[in-house]
Amino acid sequence: MKVAILVESLTGNTWKAGEMIADQLQQVGWGITALSPARHPDYAALQAADLVLVGTWVHGLFVVGQTPWALAELAKLPAMKGKRAAAFLTYALNPGKSLQKMSNVLDSLGAEVLGGVALHRAKLPAHTEEFAARLVQRAAELV
Ligand SMILES: Cc1cc2nc3c(=O)[nH]c(=O)nc-3n(C[C@H](O)[C@H](O)[C@H](O)COP(=O)(O)O)c2cc1C
Repeated sequence: MKVAILVESLTGNTWKAGEMIADQLQQVGWGITALSPARHPDYAALQAADLVLVGTWVHGLFVVGQTPWALAELAKLPAMKGKRAAAFLTYALNPGKSLQKMSNVLDSLGAEVLGGVALHRAKLPAHTEEFAARLVQRAAELV
């Protein structure tokens, strides 16, 4: 599986999560075409990928109004028809309905959405490992 990872990050947690996911997928033999900022995507890497992972962070008032940061910009990513996609979010307290909003955006870009995950910023190693394992399992089911 060839994977492009796009990340929006303010303080580095989501970027770190992207690196961890890339590492874990490489360990099972998947190729990472690029890890690039979502606002400046590596278009060639995106085009070459079968699976696109898009990550951002949860912004809100912690218990209300949570939404994925830069959702409107993410909605302007290139169309992903014929590709699979999944979202990941980092958060501190409560992601609210952010994951569903991200999945809706990926769906509107034409991707086949394989699900997604909200990763607690203090538990990135464990949560990214679980996400990567779930992706690998999901891909095996789809073959
Ligand atoms: C302005 C601001 C608002 C935030 N709002 C929320 C929130 O509503 N819910 C939550 O769980 N985390 C919230 N967070 C925490 C971030 O989602 C968390 O620290 C995330 O890992 C940041 O990702 P980054 O390091 O990639 O920028 C907020 C952080 C900031 C700076």
